[in-house]
Amino acid sequence: MLTTPLNLDLVAPQTASSHQEAFDLLARLAENRLGMDFHKRRHDRLFLMIGKRVKATFKNSILDYLSFLETNPNHPEWVEIEQILTIQKTEFFRESSQMKFFEETILPEIKHRKSKERDSKVRAWSCGCSTGEEAYTLSILFHQRFLPPTDWDVRILASDVHQNALEIGQIAEYTEKSLQNVSKENRLSYFEKIGQNYCVIEPLKKMIQFRKINLISDSYPIKTKFSVIFCRNLLIYMTPFWQSTIVNRLRNYLEPGGYLLLGHSEYLADKKDFQLTKFNAFQSPIS
Ligand SMILES: C[S@@+](CC[C@H](N)C(=O)[O-])C[C@H]1O[C@@H](n2cnc3c(N)ncnc32)[C@H](O)[C@@H]1O
Repeated sequence: MLTTPLNLDLVAPQTASSHQEAFDLLARLAENRLGMDFHKRRHDRLFLMIGKRVKATFKNSILDYLSFLETNPNHPEWVEIEQILTIQKTEFFRESSQMKFFEETILPEIKHRKSKERDSKVRAWSCGCSTGEEAYTLSILFHQRFLPPTDWDVRILASDVHQNALEIGQIAEYTEKSLQNVSKENRLSYFEKIGQNYCVIEPLKKMIQFRKINLISDSYPIKTKFSVIFCRNLLIYMTPFWQSTIVNRLRNYLEPGGYLLLGHSEYLADKKDFQLTKFNAFQSPIS
């Protein structure tokens, strides 16, 4: 329900009922396309940005623009609206206490379990990876704990619904600002300075595969089981239905004893057989 008046008159004056209609349609599109709970977002800014797309696409009104999207689900304009609707904010070593716990407790535990099972394959998934900083953070930590001169086979899947974000991740060139949590030693070991920016070194890039996956699609094109899945700062924007549906699906992609890591303000409504360790890291049963 629209509670505060919005300025939707960016293109042509609107009536109160067409305001409400545009609001309801956008809420429906955001949920059907991304699983998003539109009521959790700040609407004034969103509508301001959408107004710019209305002008750019020569539509008459926001309602006209949104109706066009609804009837053209494969139109390239969807890339623009998805970018407006989603939040891409991310950084290297985000949520440092959880990352430290991952580095000092979870990684050694995975290594110990895998060594016991004589299984050299380790798979991790950063789902909702945005522009790749989370996946590269994992690659640094795995590289330090697992890689040469030992013969571990570590690979990381980095997925997002947003094609532009994935392309930035593949290029792997970042500004000084996004590296603010990266230590001096890690900067020297894992990045090459290119002009003002920092590019991730090739061995780390090779560990990561970027793929476009919408987590609310019927199935995911993945056969692997993962030792660890990072799904952080994404579920928080989703409807309760999609939060629990996605968590239940991710659960099936974990190895016995694998970990699901959520963002610090996210929680599992239904923990089922998951065991909470610390810092929002949930372990599946070892069986
Ligand atoms: C705030 S970023 C979080 C990035 C990273 N996980 C972190 O915590 O720093 C949320 C990401 O989730 C992605 N996203 C939103 N809805 C999605 C969906 N239905 N399927 C896949 N990714 C989605 C967005 O495109 C965005 O890049």
